[in-house]
Amino acid sequence: MIAELLIENDKLDIPCHLAIIMDGNGRWAKSKGLPRVAGHRKGAEAARSAVESSIKYGVRYLTLYSFSSENWRRPIGEINDIMGLLREYLLNQINELDSNGVRLRVIGERDNLDQDIKILIEEGEKSTKSNTKLDLIIALSYGSRAEIVNATKRILNNFDLGLIKPNDLSEVLFESYLDTAGIPNPDLLIRTSGEKRLSNFLLWQLAYTELVFSEVLWPDFGEPNFTDALYEFTQRERRFGEINSLRIDEN
Ligand code: FPP
Repeated sequence: MIAELLIENDKLDIPCHLAIIMDGNGRWAKSKGLPRVAGHRKGAEAARSAVESSIKYGVRYLTLYSFSSENWRRPIGEINDIMGLLREYLLNQINELDSNGVRLRVIGERDNLDQDIKILIEEGEKSTKSNTKLDLIIALSYGSRAEIVNATKRILNNFDLGLIKPNDLSEVLFESYLDTAGIPNPDLLIRTSGEKRLSNFLLWQLAYTELVFSEVLWPDFGEPNFTDALYEFTQRERRFGEINSLRIDEN
């Protein structure tokens, strides 16, 4: 029902950029008496479904928080399991992503990743570079504070080289040093599993983003949950800190 409404009504706003904190894989596995890796595996399937839904409903950029800088503190076995799933995803999905017009981009601190994963990412980014249907941005070994510090370091470096002057610094210039340079800020953020935190995800970029928190655990998050969140977004009134235009008319 909501799906039809979203597809048929071109007056309903679809978020241009959707960002998702895919939370609850561990709890999903625990609730079924399964090892955590089973939750992550089902979570990777839910990620594939989110890509399909994004294409279907016309989302232009989809950012998935797949592994945070803080996730390196998890037990080594679980880190290896998640990296294994990502390796599998990159190996098996790139061709399909490419044939569906998806451009792959990865943000985060690549130096921490295994060499073969780095190569798969580089190849995937290169081979899908000219696709324009959907940009799939995977946040991997990503932390927003580190991203901001790294951007600042690069700006100071260019200052030392005489390439920029203090007065050149503006929000637009600063954004161009972030990992997300050239990508519009998210319109909608979904976090699953009932947690209501940003967890060091896109702190700069989410300044005016609408937030939707779903109780559903990420492995169970399918198309109906996706369209519910999109519909909730269409009901929001975005003001970007300004006064509502209706109220100006009314006064
Ligand atoms: C959060 O659940 C999820 C993660 C830390 C990993 C997310 C990884 C995937 C979905 C698999 C790979 C992704 C792609 C794009 C192929 P949690 O473990 O924190 O759950 P919990 O809070 O219930 O313990």
